[in-house]
Order: sequence, then C-alpha cells, then structure tokens
Amino acid sequence: MSNILKLTRRRSLLFGLGSLAAISAVATSRGFSHHQQIQTLDDPERDFTVSQELSLKQRAAKKGLIYGTASTKKYLASDPAYIAAIVENCSMFVPEWEFKWTAGDAMLRPGFDQFDFTDADWIANFAATHKLLLRGHTLVWHESLPKWFKETVNNKNAQQLLQNHIQTVVKRYTGKIHSWDVVNEAIEPKDGRDDGLRITPWLNSLGTNYIDLAFRLTAEYDPKALLVYNEFGLDYDTPEADAKRTAVLNLLTGLKARGTPIHAFGTQAHLSPGSNRKFNPEKLRQFLRDVASLGLKIMITELDVTDKNLPIDIKVRDRIVAAAYEDYLSAALDEKAVIGVITWGLSDKYTWLGEFQPRPDRKPVRTLPLDAQMQRKLVWNAIARAFDNCPKR
Ligand code: G3I
Repeated sequence: MSNILKLTRRRSLLFGLGSLAAISAVATSRGFSHHQQIQTLDDPERDFTVSQELSLKQRAAKKGLIYGTASTKKYLASDPAYIAAIVENCSMFVPEWEFKWTAGDAMLRPGFDQFDFTDADWIANFAATHKLLLRGHTLVWHESLPKWFKETVNNKNAQQLLQNHIQTVVKRYTGKIHSWDVVNEAIEPKDGRDDGLRITPWLNSLGTNYIDLAFRLTAEYDPKALLVYNEFGLDYDTPEADAKRTAVLNLLTGLKARGTPIHAFGTQAHLSPGSNRKFNPEKLRQFLRDVASLGLKIMITELDVTDKNLPIDIKVRDRIVAAAYEDYLSAALDEKAVIGVITWGLSDKYTWLGEFQPRPDRKPVRTLPLDAQMQRKLVWNAIARAFDNCPKR
C-alpha cells in the first residue's frame, strides 16, 4: 500500500477518533449542562408564598401595571368557568386568533376586497361585556395569511390592500382598542439582510417602508390606540438573541428618527427553561432600558413558559416553570416603562403549547397560572410575587 494511501488511512482513523471525541465532548457538555441546568433551575427550598388575598389584576393595578391574557372565541364561548377566571384575574384581553387575516372558519379576510367580522365582533363584544381592555393582534404579520394572499398580492396592489385592511379594520374598532400590534415579528437576522428584516411577502411587495406605512395608516384611523411593534426571541443570553435585540433596537431607532407614530414595543417572552439557553437578567434589563430610552412604553405581550424540556415529575416541573416566570418578571418589571404583562393563556386547559410545543412524553403541559381545573398553580404565585415586589409605576 503506497505511503499516501497509508497516510490517508491513518489520517482518516485519527479524524474518526477525533470526531468521536468531539461528539462525546459535546454530548457530555450538553448532557451535563442540560442535567446541570435542570438542577440549578430546580430549587426545592425556593419560597413561592404570597401574602394577601388579591387577584393578579389587583396586584398589578397596585403598581400601576395591567395584567391580562389571551384566548379565542372557540374556548370562551363554551367555558363559563374560564371566563370567570379571566374576569377575576385579568383587566386586559387579546384574541389569539380572531383579529388575524385567517381567523378560522369565519376568517377575517375571505378575499382581496372581502371582510367577515363575525368572530372579531364577538371578541370585541366579549371584552366590552366583561370590561376588559382589548388588544388588537395583529394587523401586519407574515403568518396566518389566507391562501389567496400569496397567490394575489404583488408590488402593484400591496399598498392598496394594506391601506384598505388597516382602514377597514382599525376604523371599525376605533375607541375599543387599548393597543394594536401593528406589525408582528418583522425581524429575522438569519434571513441575512444588513437591516435584519425578515424576508416576507410584505417586504417583497412594499419594500422596507411597509412598517412605517402600517404605523402611519393605523395612527390615521385610530389616533388614540397605543401602537406597538411586537417581537419574539429576545429573552436569552445567546448570539442569536443578541443579534435580534440589536436589529430590533435599530428598527425602533429608525422608526422614531423618521417620526413614525410608534408608542410601544411588545416583547412576547415565550420562555423555555432547560433549553440550554442561559437567562441573563442583566442583559434583559439593559435591552429594556435601551428600548425605554427611545421614549417607548413596553409590554410583555405573550408570556408563557414551555415545560417540554423539563422532567416528568410535576412538583419539579411546576417549581422550575414558576421560577422561570418570577426570574423573568423580576428583571423585566424593574424597568418602569413596562406597563403591562399578558400571559398567552390563563389555564393549562387552553394553551397553544399543548399543540405546538408538546412534551416528548406527551404528558399534559403545565405552563400557565391556572391548571386545567382553573385552580391556582405555583405560576400564579410567581406572577403575584413579581407584581408585589416590583417598583410602582
Ligand atoms: O379555530 C380554527 C378552526 O375553525 C379551523 O377549522 C382550523 C383550520 O385550520 O383552524 C382553527 O384555528 C386555529 C387557531 O389557532 C385557533 O385555535 C389555527 O389553525 C391555528 O393556526 C391557530 O394557531 C395560532 C397561531 O398563533 C397561528 O395564528 C395559535 O392559536 C396562537 O396561540 C399563536 O399565537 C402566536 C402569536 O399570534 C404570535 N406570536 C407567537 C404565538 C405562538 O405561536
């Protein structure tokens, strides 16, 4: 066998051993850090006791905060106990679904020039009946768009479509909306643009100006609602989140510099303990400080904590999930520009996480303040403690 061949065989053997060592090192570090992360997250001695018999909305209001939740007509219309729990704990409501372009069977936008307000009106009436402040979610998003959208919209008709959508929808609910998520999730650095903008049908058909245009149109048709840019993936100390926070700050700075009527920033805060992503309270505080320094209010718009990476033991899971809520809110609520906290659901009976982020063992998820029987869990205590211990606005 020629020397070259021998050398090649030896090198490939070394390479093989080397990569095995590398894989086992990563596995060990990942396995170790995952297991270690669970151990550091779970403190059996952690105190979650709360004082006074006050609801979450009452504790929030004592500090000048709003607490609310999200759900859909499908769940509310069939569950008076759920409505009662929402009314007891919440002063704000946001529809998970009915104000989006594709809203189930009675979708809001059946066609280019068509609207069906059946479900959106039901939500607006529900909020008014129960005296809940109502959030509009969301006018411009790249998800939940009807089939006809991608087949029809182009750079010639997109502006007319956007203008007609915002004018028709926003005018209909003028005076009834506390805040609109005017544009949702427009940043994705992985799409490779220098400005970090997500490549979407809106960007492709209208250019980078679509965001300013959406805010200006919304302000024209509802001069009173708080106009919000809403985003996710900004919570952890990772290179991806660093890049996203930078791109979001650049976007917000540009909007403000151009005089675009934006009033608040919404950070969704879908948290995932045990996912090997480190939570760094100081980084979160700095990011929220930077947003507030632009003169913007801040809302925690979709707070929840997935338990898909957590052990099966319910006591351990509940402790870790509750700790994640309290650690996040303790840091976020130090920023007085934060005016509201919305959990993306109130009861484990109804959470998108059950369907969209199920546990590998398929056990029912335990991610929200109330369990499936509307009973308080440690999460409820964690949120109550965060409201009780945060500075007054
Ligand atoms: O209810 C309709 C049903 O009538 C219809 O036949 C069926 C057809 O597919 O759809 C049903 O609607 C589902 C809807 O949730 C109501 O439950 C949709 O399929 C489903 O796509 C929709 O998922 C929502 C998702 O956004 C997409 O819009 C989730 O409930 C909602 O929790 C989730 O929320 C998003 C925020 O808007 C933005 N931030 C991330 C967050 C989680 O993904």
